[in-house]
Amino acid sequence: MRFHHLALFLHLTGVVLWVGGMVFIRVCLVSPTLTAAQWAEALAHFFSLSWVAIALIVITGGFMLIAVGYARAPLGWLLMTFLGTIMIVVFASLWFGPWMALREALAKGGLAQAQAQAQARAAIQRINKHLDIVLVLAILTAVAATLGLAL
Ligand code: HEM
Repeated sequence: MRFHHLALFLHLTGVVLWVGGMVFIRVCLVSPTLTAAQWAEALAHFFSLSWVAIALIVITGGFMLIAVGYARAPLGWLLMTFLGTIMIVVFASLWFGPWMALREALAKGGLAQAQAQAQARAAIQRINKHLDIVLVLAILTAVAATLGLAL
């Protein structure tokens, strides 16, 4: 077994964890009875897992790409790197934007409670919209990584 095989295994493990987590949030976590606080708790676990997965994807993907060299890398790999980078940028904007807004809204208490709940709900909707964009990009990235090899 070459180091490349191990890197590919870890790369795909990262992809499975990150993309699988997003699918779980968007497709399985659909109960209308979930409170904003319960949503935030699930998302907090999801984000911790996602950052580890993203680090795995970038480190192992970067290693495999550099080992082969940009000039010799297939077009599909370069497309994957480009789309994967956009995925990470959109994901980071979700974390710094609506996720921070959700945490801020939930930290508010007292008289502002009803308003804070409305803010929290709006933030959750924005988080879900961002996740949908990242998921569409994930499909395109996987297409580039696989079918793109035929280019
Ligand atoms: C952002 C930085 C990324 C870099 C630098 C990168 C780089 C690479 C490289 C060099 C390989 C080829 C390994 C080989 O064929 O032996 C690979 C494989 C793969 N990557 Fe990525 N990748 C990135 C992100 C992603 C993302 C976000 C996804 C999925 C959403 C993804 C999905 C895949 C898949 C499915 C393979 C296996 C298919 C193949 O070997 O061509 N990658 N990646």
